[in-house]
Amino acid sequence: LSVAVLISGAGSNLRALLEAASEPDFPARIVVVGADREAAGFSHAEDFGIPSFMVPWEQFDSREAWGAELGAQLAVWEPDLVVLSGLMRLLPATLVEEWAPRIVNTHPAYLPEFPGAHGVRDALAAGVPQTGASVIIVDAGVDSGPILAQERVPVFEGDDEHSLHERIKPVERRLLIDVVERIAAGDLDLAAAAAGPQDPVD
Ligand code: GRF
Repeated sequence: LSVAVLISGAGSNLRALLEAASEPDFPARIVVVGADREAAGFSHAEDFGIPSFMVPWEQFDSREAWGAELGAQLAVWEPDLVVLSGLMRLLPATLVEEWAPRIVNTHPAYLPEFPGAHGVRDALAAGVPQTGASVIIVDAGVDSGPILAQERVPVFEGDDEHSLHERIKPVERRLLIDVVERIAAGDLDLAAAAAGPQDPVD
């Protein structure tokens, strides 16, 4: 299974995926890393000899135009799966429709709790005793797609956004690697998952 990973930041989740995919028996390989800015995470792609591309958000005059270029870059690599791992940009609906259901996203909260760009901060602000990590299929909404995997993560007294996020990320990485492996092994059918629970055939 060929995988493209899109990032915006440090790419620690990307690195975990690159390490897992470099295991000889891992059934997926990362073919390209893309970002909407000069992401620090590009260094991980370089370390693993993986090509990368950048579609700088500020060089485009609309989400649609940015998304069209992103889609054109992805089309060069024709990945079977696109993984959003810390991409801090909403994809335009046209791009989602073109690639769905072959785009998955990892989010540092127990969706549908705390969607959006500040899931960790929002959980802290809500004072909840636990939050979580989720891997979903990307749809045209904000973190609203079908949930493929999720796991609870405790919030401790004295946590700040960084400490809580650092506790969530390892869980995210494990869930993401497991989901990619299951998709690659054919154990997880994205089209079926995207179609949602079917009424039992009576
Ligand atoms: C991850 O928690 C991701 O879910 C969120 O931002 C974080 C990115 O971390 N959107 P990194 O860039 O993988 O270190």
